[in-house]
Amino acid sequence: MVRSQASARRLTVGERGWNPDLARTYDRVARAYAEQYFTELERKPFDRQMLDRFAAGVRGRGRVMDLGCGPGHIGRYLAERGLDVFGVDLSPGMVALARELNPGLRIEHGDMRALALPDASLAGVVAFYSLIHLERASAPRALAEIARVLAPGGAVLLAFHEGEGEAHADDWFGQGVSVDATLFSPEEMRRLMGQAGLAVAEILTRPPYDFEYPTQRVYASGTKPLAALQGRM
Ligand SMILES: C[S@@+](CC[C@H](N)C(=O)[O-])C[C@H]1O[C@@H](n2cnc3c(N)ncnc32)[C@H](O)[C@@H]1O
Repeated sequence: MVRSQASARRLTVGERGWNPDLARTYDRVARAYAEQYFTELERKPFDRQMLDRFAAGVRGRGRVMDLGCGPGHIGRYLAERGLDVFGVDLSPGMVALARELNPGLRIEHGDMRALALPDASLAGVVAFYSLIHLERASAPRALAEIARVLAPGGAVLLAFHEGEGEAHADDWFGQGVSVDATLFSPEEMRRLMGQAGLAVAEILTRPPYDFEYPTQRVYASGTKPLAALQGRM
């Protein structure tokens, strides 16, 4: 996949279809993925800054979900900054590993396309490099779910790889599994967030750090408008 420097390459999605068993794929690579990324924030000042700003905006306002949490380091970073965070991930193997690595965090199994959470129940959602695994046509559904579970005024922060089309990797992490990822342009994500009813606050990009896969990185932040509350009164 595009986050793995060793094995990423661009291809069109083949006849086997889009991420035929993504949960199993992440079950297989979970430990290798964690070895590469669990401490990555130590080397990513820009990402820390984005997360610090997100934390400042939602602290004390309610629960925050780290969606597609993987090994849980993004949620853990936010919890260490005083947020009431829980993680959600599609892969049972990742969920087990995230629980092991972060005994203080609640980690649940779930799918961002159909979240088992009540409407308007969260103060914030952070999703770093997880929307990328959705086939493009499924992105609106996941963003609609994020908008649904956010309370009016709630905040969202997304991170993803900038680009057009898709990326694919075979034998990812040497584990005999392949993976697909969708690249989004900032303009496309702005449109998708708007269509989901989210007000885009800011879309920032940065070049890759020299140890990262060489895609431009995008950070899209927004809120669920307070008007959503008025519509329900
Ligand atoms: C590239 S990893 C990102 C993990 C972590 N957020 C990070 O920044 O390193 C993508 C994660 O999203 C999860 N994921 C992919 N599709 C998902 C879905 N539909 N619902 C929930 N989690 C999903 C995967 O299982 C995986 O752990």
